[in-house]
Amino acid sequence: MPALVAPSILSADFSDLKSVIDLLNKSEADWFHLDVMDGVFVPNISFGFPVIKAIAAIAKKPLDVHLMIVDPDRYIEAFKLAGAGILSVHYEACTHLHRTIQNIKHNGMKAGIAINPHTPVHLLEDVIANIDLVCLMSVNPGFGGQKFIEHTFNKVLRLKELIMETRSKAKIEVDGGVDLDNALPLIRAGADALVAGNTVFTSPNPLETIKFLKDPL
Ligand code: DX5
Ligand code: ZN
Repeated sequence: MPALVAPSILSADFSDLKSVIDLLNKSEADWFHLDVMDGVFVPNISFGFPVIKAIAAIAKKPLDVHLMIVDPDRYIEAFKLAGAGILSVHYEACTHLHRTIQNIKHNGMKAGIAINPHTPVHLLEDVIANIDLVCLMSVNPGFGGQKFIEHTFNKVLRLKELIMETRSKAKIEVDGGVDLDNALPLIRAGADALVAGNTVFTSPNPLETIKFLKDPL
């Protein structure tokens, strides 16, 4: 089965965002992956509401918004109003994660939880039935273009088991360092969705690259 592909615009040309969105609209990409960084949870600052709203106005696919921010509860409604379709918060950033998930759903979005490379998947066992997506970080969050952490394969397998055991409908998204070589093994291990920034936007042919990531056989 082909994977869902979510290009991360973090590696795109911000001086020509309109062309980037037009390109992704006509590509086989499924979601737009938008990385929001606050300079506190991660050592980098990316973009916020004005940029997301501008993208939402012309995007023809759901916005998969990955919040790398502390205390995300403060902004859940605002992300809905900005156009988010899927909203992922970090496990490590939420004290009352169950409440945060309820809040995301209450605002009419799909709820995702992102976990850092050091966070074991079993910590999700009491919330996995309530969420739509787990974003497994395969690099330490904060920057595009980093090297894929191989241990992520074990986490995909364990997470898949947890999802089966609990009959959860959560999809497994892998985020960071996804490339033309690891895409197929990741899909075979159980990944449902692949985020790709650098691989798509440094490609001489992003449309072909997206097509390949979707179905790398
Ligand atoms: C990292 C972000 C990723 C990143 C992926 O903090 O969450 O979405 O942009 O970029 P690549 O594919 O270049 O690793
Ligand atoms: Zn991301």
